[in-house]
Amino acid sequence: MDFSFLPKYYMFFLDGAKITLILSFFTVILGVVLGVSLALMRMSRIWPLKIFATSYIEFIRGTPLLVQLFIIYYGLPQIGITFPEVPGFGSAFPDFMAAVLTLSINSAAYIAELFRAGIQAIDKGQMEAARSLGMPHSMAMRYIILPQALRNVLPALGNEFIVVIKESSIVSVIGIGELMYKADTVRGNTFQPFGPLLVAALIYFVMTFTLSKLLGVAERRMRTSD
Ligand code: ARG
Repeated sequence: MDFSFLPKYYMFFLDGAKITLILSFFTVILGVVLGVSLALMRMSRIWPLKIFATSYIEFIRGTPLLVQLFIIYYGLPQIGITFPEVPGFGSAFPDFMAAVLTLSINSAAYIAELFRAGIQAIDKGQMEAARSLGMPHSMAMRYIILPQALRNVLPALGNEFIVVIKESSIVSVIGIGELMYKADTVRGNTFQPFGPLLVAALIYFVMTFTLSKLLGVAERRMRTSD
């Protein structure tokens, strides 16, 4: 095994890791927004919303991420939906948007279930107390239930971030220059089949392990502040 490519290519890997983190960050933000909405829809008494959210969650969780990625990346332009190109970035921006969109659409289905569990874990008395003080249902949800649910859900959301960092490697197949793509490029340039993959694996591990340690610290803080 030969790591002599490292001095020349290490910036490649670091750039890739940076893109991976940016991609995952935006995915989790968008995923939480979509996911909370889906969770609320799924628990709503308005049945069209409930049916929509339930089907969405089941369908997304029941189909492969790779297929979803190809549907968004190749399929949407076919029906006339494209992202604008940003001057100076060529097609990198629309491609990046397709990647973020796919990962968020996927992650939102899992996040929705996290939030549903988090919301349902809040004692019923909380909603009853809020309602008996005269709060409308939506206000009680927003100010009483969701803040408490968020605290329950935070560790699981951190986990989802870790999952997304790993799953984001799939978008290398549409040419997003994230860590896995960069590793493949180095493999091609240096004719080294093995080393670049080990480097990529190590960087993924450093990212996810650091994150899970940070989450552990945050969780312990939250528990002591109780
Ligand atoms: N690898 C899975 C698939 O191909 C995606 C899992 C995504 N999981 C998640 N918690 N976001 O469908």
